[in-house]
Parts: sequence; C-alpha cells; structure tokens
Amino acid sequence: MMFASDNWAGAALPVLEALVAAGLARPEPAYGDDSVTRALERRFSDLFEREVAVVLVPTGTAANSLAVATFTPPWGAIVAHEEGHLMIDECGAPEFYSGARAYRLPAHRGLFTPEGLAAGLDAIPQGLHHGRLSVVSLTLPNEFGLLYTPGELATLAAVAHDRGLAVHLDGARFANAVARLGVAPADVTWRAGVDVLSFGGTKGGCAMAEAIVLFDPARREELLFRRKRAGQLISKHRFVAAQFEAWLDRGLWLDLATHANRMADLLADGIAACPHTRLAWRPGANEVFAFFSPETAARLEAAGARFYDWSTAALAADDLPRDGEKLWRLVTSFATRPEEVAAFLAALAAL
Ligand SMILES: Cc1ncc(COP(=O)(O)O)c(C=O)c1O
Repeated sequence: MMFASDNWAGAALPVLEALVAAGLARPEPAYGDDSVTRALERRFSDLFEREVAVVLVPTGTAANSLAVATFTPPWGAIVAHEEGHLMIDECGAPEFYSGARAYRLPAHRGLFTPEGLAAGLDAIPQGLHHGRLSVVSLTLPNEFGLLYTPGELATLAAVAHDRGLAVHLDGARFANAVARLGVAPADVTWRAGVDVLSFGGTKGGCAMAEAIVLFDPARREELLFRRKRAGQLISKHRFVAAQFEAWLDRGLWLDLATHANRMADLLADGIAACPHTRLAWRPGANEVFAFFSPETAARLEAAGARFYDWSTAALAADDLPRDGEKLWRLVTSFATRPEEVAAFLAALAAL
C-alpha cells in the first residue's frame, strides 16, 4: 500500500534492462557524444512533431532550474504558483541558477485563470529598480494533481507572451497528463505556446532521467553551457539517454502512465464511497487528494498504508478541511499493483 510518492517506486524492467545493456556495450564517447544520445534527440523531435533540442539531467530540480535560467537574465524574475514545486521544493535552485528573483502568485487549486494570471503579473512592480519579469512557470499536472487543457494552456501562454515573458512547463509527471488528456505531446507544449518543458522520466518508470526540451533549438548551446557549469552534465551520459530510449520505446511511457492513472481512479472511487474519508477533488492524473482525520490516517498506516500529510494554507474556502480533518496526498505509480489498492480499500471498509 505504497502511496507516498511515485518517487518511491523502483524503475520499469525495460529501463533497467537498457541500463544493463548500456553498461555492457562497447565503450562510447562521453558527455553526450554517444550513439544512444544522438538517436534519442531524433526520437524527441519525432515525438514532438518538430525539431527540438533535448538536454538531459538527473533531477527534476535541475531540469526546472536550468530551463527557467535559460530564459531569465540575472535582473529577470520567475513567476509561478505559490505552491509550485520550483518555488517551495527546490531550495531556491531556480534563483541560484538564474540569479533572478521569484514571485509567487495564488490560484485556486494551483490552476491559474487567464484573468488571475494577468492581474498577478500586472501587479508586480517592474523597472530599473525592480527588475523585469522574464518567465512564467506552469505545472502539468500541477501540485494538486490537476490538469490544464491544451486550450487553457494556450490562453495562459498568450497572457505571458503578450507581456514579453517566456513560458516554462514543469512536466515532472508529463506522461500522466498526456495519457489522461489523450492529446499529442505537441498539443500541451509548443502548440499551446510553451517555450521550454521539463519532461520527467523518473517518476514514470526511469531511475533518474529528466529531459529539458527546448522548442527553439537555437537556445541549445546556452543550455549546454549552463548544464555543465551547474555540475549536471553526466560523463557517462549514455546511461541517462538509455533510460529515456527504453521508456519512450513503443509507447511504454504512456502505458505506464495510463496504469498509474487508472490505479488513482480506483483509489479515488473507494475513498469517495467511504463515510470516513472525503475525496477533495477527482484526480487529474495519478495523485489523489483526500480529507480524513489523523485518527483515520493512523489506522490506515497501522494497516500498512503509506501517504503524505498535505496540509496547506493555500486552499480556498470550499476546499477547507472540516471537523478535525486534514488533507492527505496519495500517489499511484507505474508500479502500483491493483492488490495494493484493493488492500487499501479493504482497510477503509474495516474502519
Ligand atoms: C511538480 C514537480 N516538479 C518537479 C519535481 C522534481 O523534483 P526532484 O528534483 O526531486 O527530481 C517533482 C518531484 O517531486 C514534482 O512533484
């Protein structure tokens, strides 16, 4: 009953086999000059239906930070939701790598509306004494497990572009979003106005592989220098590339994400049906948010379930916990077994 995080999961077998194969293959040039990395760049361009530049890193924090830094002068500013991962969970790395400042904006359940984003951006002072806004970072699925549609993303991107800002998309769980929306990767990225994507592989079945996808390949060189200077260029680069190669092959990434999403739906249905638990909102992808008491949580934990306390001050009135409840987050992954969900639901039924 492992619902703490999709980061707790292992890695998918084809990814592990690819790592072994890469380890046993004949020596290849280091630092990304190998055949696996070169083949992967072609694959990403095919996947996104246009020429893209891909720069691989081992962590999502590095992907987000280097991606936004590439669109931000030191006097610039990064804007994101107040609960955005890159605002609160990356130890200031986006500011560290870019030298810029960061502004946090509120939005109901982490989803900006065009009006809310425009008002938030326009309220931030700009000029010689303040700096200049440079990039808006959105998350898909966001930190509350919710999704923007391609149309909503396009409207938000237009708000940013109208003000001269670039658009970054944190896609740590991009696979889960694409699987749920049933769209082409291009539809929720460059066709919707996204300039740079952090495409996460790790949570979806890789061991440690994240891709920064630049929809303007002319920025590639700058990002390559930034990655090296940040200490994020892995010398045996083919091991990172091999993970993506196996994960993207024959749609494995989407199959794994579809499974994770389905497990989240089952979990959500059971939570909604139980009188001791209250579903906060339907999961957009593979993260389930629910209200229940710490006593209920303790009993579920005693039965072997693992999940996180997701208490936050950023909820609107209609989302607030009631009578001793707290908000909890339960995450499913490619590795979640239906029996784990069934065991959790049985533990709920026994409450
Ligand atoms: C929304 C989001 N972005 C990025 C990341 C990547 O973070 P890390 O640096 O831990 O790989 C995570 C991981 O929890 C995440 O949830």
